[in-house]
Amino acid sequence: MNSAQRIFEAIVTTRHADGGIHTVPLGFRHEGDAVVLSPFRPSTTLDNILRDRHAVLNLVDDVRIFAGCLTGRHDWPTEEARDIPGRRLAGALAHMELRLDRVEDDPVRPRLICLQVHAETHAPFRGFNRAQAAVIEACILASRLGLLAEDKIRSEIAYLAFAIVKTAGPEELEAWGWVVGRIEDHFRLMAPGGSA
Ligand SMILES: Cc1cc2nc3c(=O)[nH]c(=O)nc-3n(C[C@H](O)[C@H](O)[C@H](O)COP(=O)(O)O)c2cc1C
Repeated sequence: MNSAQRIFEAIVTTRHADGGIHTVPLGFRHEGDAVVLSPFRPSTTLDNILRDRHAVLNLVDDVRIFAGCLTGRHDWPTEEARDIPGRRLAGALAHMELRLDRVEDDPVRPRLICLQVHAETHAPFRGFNRAQAAVIEACILASRLGLLAEDKIRSEIAYLAFAIVKTAGPEELEAWGWVVGRIEDHFRLMAPGGSA
């Protein structure tokens, strides 16, 4: 695997037609000078970028934002972007302001090739935290609830919980609670006699 295939996880903020801000976790790749986003259709982020031609990539270590977006908590503080129409997350360690350069279209997962218009660092990287990585992995499991077997999800959550117990701070604990709560809600609904 070469470095262009390495995927990073970020929070992407885009603008709705009415100017409202849409906030979602999204993977991205660096390919030369470009930043490549690959949203699965249907996607509000895709619609917003195709219409607006801009997006902000927010690099965050507050994993509550990842967990929050997956569990209906979308309202995170933002600030005006510097060089493009749009907003960045106020809590981002760094952000990149992107302009859409071209689209490699695909019926399932188009590739949005974006160029960096402006990049800014707001706070230092504090080091690798296993609980943050565990929350991100749990978010991935929670985003695939209909696709993975319950046993597999439960055993992976049990393993990830070790990193939470050993290395989490209050933010990671809160994020973990949101994601595990979402997973438990799903299984309750799926159980015989389960109801909304
Ligand atoms: C860590 C993480 C990475 C994700 N990366 C992607 C991605 O690369 N493409 C995608 O379509 N969805 C990805 N998702 C799922 C989206 O965040 C989720 O489906 C969201 O609702 C998409 O919103 P949209 O309608 O604006 O596309 C990711 C989720 C997480 C937690």
